[in-house]
Amino acid sequence: MKRKSPDDEFLERILAAGAILVNIGDIDILLEQILTEARFFTNADAGSVYTVEGSVLSFCHSQNETIVSRGQRIPYTRFTIPISTASMAGYVASTGKILNIDNVREIPDEAPYSFDDSYDKIAKYRTKSVLTLPLINNRQTVVGVLQLINARTHQREFVPFQSKMELLGKYYATLGALALERAMMTRTLLMRMVKMTEFRDPKETGQHVNRVGSYAVAIYDSWANANNVSDKDQILNRDILRMAAMLHDVGKTGISDSILKKPGMLSEKERTVMEKHCEIGAQVLHNCESTFDEMARDIALNHHENWDGSGYPNQLAGEEIPFMARITSIADVFDALCSRRAYKSPWPDEKVLEEMEKLFLNKFDPELRVHFISQFEALKEIRSSYPE
Ligand code: C2E
Ligand code: SIN
Ligand code: SIN
Ligand code: FE
Ligand code: FE
Repeated sequence: MKRKSPDDEFLERILAAGAILVNIGDIDILLEQILTEARFFTNADAGSVYTVEGSVLSFCHSQNETIVSRGQRIPYTRFTIPISTASMAGYVASTGKILNIDNVREIPDEAPYSFDDSYDKIAKYRTKSVLTLPLINNRQTVVGVLQLINARTHQREFVPFQSKMELLGKYYATLGALALERAMMTRTLLMRMVKMTEFRDPKETGQHVNRVGSYAVAIYDSWANANNVSDKDQILNRDILRMAAMLHDVGKTGISDSILKKPGMLSEKERTVMEKHCEIGAQVLHNCESTFDEMARDIALNHHENWDGSGYPNQLAGEEIPFMARITSIADVFDALCSRRAYKSPWPDEKVLEEMEKLFLNKFDPELRVHFISQFEALKEIRSSYPE
């Protein structure tokens, strides 16, 4: 067989990377992978991806080989930058143009954008060349920004990005835009599903879904901080969890009004019908492709399972119950106790706390008790920010 030239190998790797990318269902993972591949092919030391969220750019992923090789953590903050021409990323987002800067410290004064060196200062890093590319969808709208930092020689010197790298970067920017497009479509569809549950049952599900989503994230964050979950996984999980938890009762749309809106206690028979909302929800979300789909389904199906096996619909116990469903169960019951329902009045804080403590003895994951307790004030704040 003919020996492969470096060029062949390069091409082969680009094609293989493309094949991997189209098989990733999860958008955040996909964006991160795009950053990894784009950095590899342009030999960039560092890079970031931003997404457009309304009028700001939201920072999603950042990589930096130098900092990682020093054994240092990437100073990770979930920051946003305004979409204005004052920053490089903002300039690219607002104009849709590629920006290839050889040395950020030699940006002429008359340029609309300037370099913000606060990241360098915190990270003790020296940014030199920066290639910033817009992620443009098929309606010619900028949906994000891919930024590659410090092209390197084989001797690991930082040099400018060659102009042919702009083309390669553009290929990844196109893949990134497609991924984001899909993410936004999914998000829109999900928010419509949540809206449907609100229309069906305005009294019980309106702000309830928002609160349950936020409570679940607060409890998860506390758990993740105590369990050395990486910032990256935590940020990825919490976003997915918020939406998945918001859909926990989506199956209630399949329950008849006479039961769903009954102004009193349910009879044995009615309760059996009501309990079907878990399976109905799981059916609606049955198409498990991405991390999100899987989590949403796990939560819809299992949020009424109890730690001691006394719940429904499958009497799972302990760690058989998916972790995120265990978290959502706490969030859901906490909210039900604090809220007015067709069948009950809201309870005062002390009574809620007392009841929750009791439920931690058999219903909830005992490991999560400390996180519920430490977040109690935060949960109350969330409650007041989404009033009935
Ligand atoms: P939901 O109102 O969102 O309540 C969610 C869960 O919070 C309940 O799940 C239950 O675990 C907990 N919870 C609610 N109120 C109380 C309470 O007063 N004490 C205690 N210890 N826990 C409470 P559950 O019981 O499986 O009910 C699922 C859903 O079924 C409820 O969602 C609600 O929509 C409906 N439901 C349950 N019981 C009744 C009822 O007596 N009348 C009516 N109309 N609906 C009910
Ligand atoms: C920018 O593009 O100017 C913001 C990001 C950075 O400072 O590296
Ligand atoms: C997880 O994040 O999947 C869970 C760990 C656990 O089950 O406690
Ligand atoms: Fe439920
Ligand atoms: Fe609920």
